[in-house]
Amino acid sequence: MQSVTTGRVVIVGAGLAALYAALALAPRPVLLVSPEPLGEGASSAWAQGGVAAAMQAPDSPEAHAADTLRAGAGLVDEAVARAVTREARDHILALAGLGAPFDRDASGGWLLSREAAHRFARVVRVRGDRAGAEIMRALVARVQATPSVQVLEGMVASGLRTEVGRVTGVEVAPSAGGDPVALLGPACLLAGGGSGGLFALTTNPARICGQVAGLAARAGVVMADMEFVQFHPTAMDIGLDPAPLATEALRGEGAVLVNARGERFMQGLHPDLELAPRDIVARAVYAQSTAGLRPMLDTRAALGARIHEAFPAVAAACARAGLDPAKEPIPVAAAAHYHMGGIATDAAGRSSLAGLWACGEVASTGLHGANRLASNGLLEALVYARRCASDIAATLGPMPDAEPVALPEMRAGNAPDPALVMRLRRAMTAGAGVIRDAEGLSRALHEIAGVEAAQPDNLPLQNMTATATMICAAALMRRESCGAHFRSDAPPDPVAPGARNHLTLDDARQL
Ligand code: SIN
Repeated sequence: MQSVTTGRVVIVGAGLAALYAALALAPRPVLLVSPEPLGEGASSAWAQGGVAAAMQAPDSPEAHAADTLRAGAGLVDEAVARAVTREARDHILALAGLGAPFDRDASGGWLLSREAAHRFARVVRVRGDRAGAEIMRALVARVQATPSVQVLEGMVASGLRTEVGRVTGVEVAPSAGGDPVALLGPACLLAGGGSGGLFALTTNPARICGQVAGLAARAGVVMADMEFVQFHPTAMDIGLDPAPLATEALRGEGAVLVNARGERFMQGLHPDLELAPRDIVARAVYAQSTAGLRPMLDTRAALGARIHEAFPAVAAACARAGLDPAKEPIPVAAAAHYHMGGIATDAAGRSSLAGLWACGEVASTGLHGANRLASNGLLEALVYARRCASDIAATLGPMPDAEPVALPEMRAGNAPDPALVMRLRRAMTAGAGVIRDAEGLSRALHEIAGVEAAQPDNLPLQNMTATATMICAAALMRRESCGAHFRSDAPPDPVAPGARNHLTLDDARQL
């Protein structure tokens, strides 16, 4: 394989964490590997709710940390939750300074949304449900105006280059398929998103399918809490793949869940009804779907025609399906949405391998435990992107400017076989979906091994199967139900929720 010495910090990913880290590293030279044209294809841009942050009284970082701990089903790292929630306001102000047009009232007060399991309205938003898209628009413009950041578009990371236990570069290949080239750099930062696309029903963009976690796992990096996949209860069930999101903020505004019989099925399940913790609402929606009772989100009484202006992204997705939410309820399903597990990182975003940092959804910092509090994902991305940048800068010291990287001619090659990818996605939904058991997880592992063996030289596919293997193995190992990890054959432990689960791909393959 050819290699190119870049003299740059190599960042894999093009979502919020990647761009914020690249800006924080400036003027140190950075090479950003983006699978799509910059600004497209990252989950961050699809985030509707916004960023959770205690911006004004009576809310406080302490209350935010307490809600994070409670939602996380006993597995949140308390020190992490306290530190992250304390830093939140500062990052919102920094984003506003970078051009994110957060909603404010006439006197400059923050307009905040309420989401499930938050005791206060504390989600900083943009034009109702356009937070992700607008924040990303602001950051893309900043990155494009920052000469120290070179963006390689249309490239995916397929592996890590290591030398005596240290990461020295990232192997990249054309997104459409092709032979890899190694990009060598003094530090590598993985910020390439989660794994929703490993499941047949997901709210994530198509490329977000566990590839970045998988390439780290294949290099022997220690992963944490891989079994904890969050399913969003109100993905729109309108025949689209990926499924558009109907943000939780709609329920914060009073939208209700009903079934085809007109029953408000959260009644009797949890005192907070539609604003119960996300895992509980997801299981309730899933139960309605599997019983053929067609769960729906009814926004009519709460929002009426106001939904078109107040939630333009939701209204636009409904319009694509020929549905007017002001007149009829939105069919919904529970869909893979966020991976709480990922590369185990410390307070500075360091992984278990020297030279490798990780942040954003691909990392597992301990903030989310077994059930992420809504809108804590973008917050975690901001906090740890800055920490990674600071630690990389401190580790490397001053860096000289670097010439733009020119890639050698790259041979086109095979992309993952779409039929195999679909087989993998179906196996994950069947075996490692909202409700799991040992038999289903073992069957999924068997299927994953079949997919892996069918295209053994295709690294993107091998990265996907590595992540899928780790999710299923970790789910088999955790014998008690906990938060988003619900096993019908293993009730929650009423006394102790267990501990965080650290393992390598080799450990997972021993099962
Ligand atoms: C939503 O807007 O419902 C999603 C927010 C999140 O997943 O953090």
